Amino acid sequence: MNTRLFRDTSSNVSVVFTDQGKPPKTTNNTDEKVYGNEDIDSSAPDKPLDVGEHYVVRRPDGSLHPAIIIQSRRNDDEGYFDYYVHYEGYDRRLDEWVQRERVMTTQQFDQDWKDDQQSRTMNLLLNQTDRKITRNQKRKHCEVYHHQKRNISEDDTDPTSAALEEEHEALTKVKYIDRIQIGRYEIDTWYFSPYPEEYGKQSKLWICEYCLKYMRLEKTFRYHMSECIFRQPPGKEIYRKNSIAIWEVDGKDHKIYCQNLCLLAKLFLDHKTLFFDVEPFLFYILCEVDKHGSHLVGYFSKEKESPDGYNVACILTLPPYQRQGYGKLLIAFSYELSKLEEVVGSPEKPLSDLGRLSYHSYWSWVILEILRDLRGIISIKKISQMTSITEGDITATLNSMGMVKYWKGEHVICTTPQLISLLINSSHFKKPRLVVDTSSLQWFPPKKAQVNVIKK
Ligand code: ACO
Ligand code: ZN
Repeated sequence: MNTRLFRDTSSNVSVVFTDQGKPPKTTNNTDEKVYGNEDIDSSAPDKPLDVGEHYVVRRPDGSLHPAIIIQSRRNDDEGYFDYYVHYEGYDRRLDEWVQRERVMTTQQFDQDWKDDQQSRTMNLLLNQTDRKITRNQKRKHCEVYHHQKRNISEDDTDPTSAALEEEHEALTKVKYIDRIQIGRYEIDTWYFSPYPEEYGKQSKLWICEYCLKYMRLEKTFRYHMSECIFRQPPGKEIYRKNSIAIWEVDGKDHKIYCQNLCLLAKLFLDHKTLFFDVEPFLFYILCEVDKHGSHLVGYFSKEKESPDGYNVACILTLPPYQRQGYGKLLIAFSYELSKLEEVVGSPEKPLSDLGRLSYHSYWSWVILEILRDLRGIISIKKISQMTSITEGDITATLNSMGMVKYWKGEHVICTTPQLISLLINSSHFKKPRLVVDTSSLQWFPPKKAQVNVIKK
């Protein structure tokens, strides 16, 4: 199990999540200087390890995992090197700077394991109750060594995508900005984001939560906050329900704000490339409103015209607000817009791991609710018309719930009321915490320049 950290700096509280998120940092080093191999001083107390080589690294939860060293930097306080590592087969969100003591060569690991195994065998002879530990140890070894192989063989991407992926990995492999301060939160970042050179190598950026201007120094930030005239996103407020409000912002009308939003979002999104060309997009900004202003919680962007029928390009909930239902609220909102446009839509691919979980959770709930209330029969096409979810996404969701059969050349929903009530009452299918109140939505579909969308 991993942990995820963000700090509420107004109350000085650190909040620790125990979920699939990012592990906490293990180094306090904020030195920005990064050394390539050629810069490494061989008189340093520890001999540097090789960038690009494979090692076994102890993760924050104590488990061992194969990892590749991407970069090294001298830790001037301690006089040795820290290493930026990528855990093989894991999301890059988990990439992190680690201290030397957490890195082992595979030979060292093998030797340690063999020694351990030997002593355990001895113990086993003396005490038969030790069997479980030995088996766990062996399993760990197998997992570590076979994980990488499995990933390579399962990778069936075409050569062009593989080349693009490689280039993306090369350009974004080291994340320099470790933390941001936005509003009252200090947040650990997840990925590289292409902030301009002089900002991109800071270990901490200060961001105005209203206009999204980014700054290198706390004093500039404090001054900016005292003079910034904005207290909410630009554009038009189109939804307000209690303290939750959503603005529609046109990338063409508010270019700087939208570019700043994309740069900020990239810190938490691995595979999105939109940063500067914001004009073809609309941005839907979700805020929590209080007497001080409208605090950015999350957003999604949407192409004004999507030939592929996408109704969401990027979606993000800022880490301090995650797992509270805002993601599914944004997803539901995107489908409400598609319903008003009388089109079906789907999120842009590839989905991230968290994106997939959230969409799957949303689709499952929407479909199960329809099936629960159903009297008579229904087709996948009809569900699609009711929800604006594409037939493909509905079929995939039903499939994952074991409810689709291929019969006489067609996909047929095959289920029973008992199965539906079992699923609805199971812990996997939680009722969304926040739902869209359509009576609080003030929005009319823009007139399309050309009808290029998938019609219902
Ligand atoms: N571990 C396990 N399940 C999770 C996790 C997690 N860390 N995060 C979300 N889920 C699942 C759960 O089923 C959850 O529902 P539940 O809490 O009722 O069980 C569901 O997804 C959604 O939870 P929400 O609270 O509604 O969503 P959240 O506000 O956390 O936002 C989002 C989800 C937007 C994907 C967020 O995790 C995020 O911003 N991630 C980083 C950016 C990203 O990956 N965006 C998607 C990229 S794909 C695209 O843009 C089209
Ligand atoms: Zn500002």
